Amino acid sequence: MLFKQQALLRQKLFVLGSLAIGSLLYLVARVGSLDRLQPLCPIDGRFGPHSQDEIPMRALQFKRGLLHEFRKGNATKEQIRLHNLVQQLPKAIIIGVRKGGTRALLEMLNLHPAVVKASQEIHFFDNDENYAKGIEWYRKKMPFSYPHQITIEKSPAYFITEEVPERIYKMNSSIKLLIIVREPTTRAISDYTQVLEGKERKNKTYYKFEKLAIDPNTCEVNTKYKAVRTSIYTKHLERWLKYFPIEQFHIVDGDRLITEPLPELQLVEKFLNLPPRISQYNLYFNATRGFYCLRFNIVFNKCLAGSKGRIHPEVDTSVITKLRKFFHPFNQKFYQITGRTFNWP
Ligand code: A3P
Repeated sequence: MLFKQQALLRQKLFVLGSLAIGSLLYLVARVGSLDRLQPLCPIDGRFGPHSQDEIPMRALQFKRGLLHEFRKGNATKEQIRLHNLVQQLPKAIIIGVRKGGTRALLEMLNLHPAVVKASQEIHFFDNDENYAKGIEWYRKKMPFSYPHQITIEKSPAYFITEEVPERIYKMNSSIKLLIIVREPTTRAISDYTQVLEGKERKNKTYYKFEKLAIDPNTCEVNTKYKAVRTSIYTKHLERWLKYFPIEQFHIVDGDRLITEPLPELQLVEKFLNLPPRISQYNLYFNATRGFYCLRFNIVFNKCLAGSKGRIHPEVDTSVITKLRKFFHPFNQKFYQITGRTFNWP
């Protein structure tokens, strides 16, 4: 009898304990949505450039609140009005480079309470049809944000598209431009891998990287191959420099962002005049993925999609050597122009 009572008591305690833990987790998850109960934005007006040190840490969770609900379609128009939410043109754009780590950079910057990302690549400036729709169309593509926050978008095609610098200049001549680069040969192979995967998905055959990257007639590097051309960073940058001074660019080391993201992100925070808010807590290494993943708080964390971090096909070492030799002088010029040196071979 006594034993039965003890078992019953243990069972009750277990249920109560589970309920308590469950409620605690639920509460933590809801912290980000507390703003929905308040008529005024609690961090509004405290986050301008004059009071940068006053950003409450809660802002990180806050961002997962109303803005998140709005994106899911759960926030009402009234809440948006009360919270003063607006769709702002970007103050900074990640203009490239394709396969440099543009998605990782955008997602990681979005950890910052003062940054709001445009989730999709908008392709406004590189696509004539979109560009013809006008700047209001572009603005309407932007996420809702608080006036003190900055919107960032990324469209890697901007970096290599001829018309883009002038078009961005016309929108905002003092915009900040972020370029994330990787060792050029690795980037070219990553670029090839993405296209290859697309072909395989459609059951199509494709050439080997070696065949595309090296001209079979001359045995020299095939500069007509897009993956090669995109990696000649200096050529593209020079076009941009006709419109923007170098001070308006910040170069992110995409190889370092993979292995050691925090210092790279801290440099970007500085460039964007944002107070340092992204910390090691927000980034954790996921051994299964082999990459750093993002932690918003103890409940919300995420890794990038599986399409980021593909296994590259093996490439003939002589082709790699040839490509590296080819990129070398362009890299030197790139270091010289940007003032940032990389240990690329
Ligand atoms: P690979 O697929 O070649 O490894 P982009 O977003 O510009 O297309 O860049 C994709 C690259 O981002 C990937 O190239 C990957 O190496 C890199 N990357 C950087 N940080 C990453 C992260 N935390 N998770 C996944 N991929 C990351």
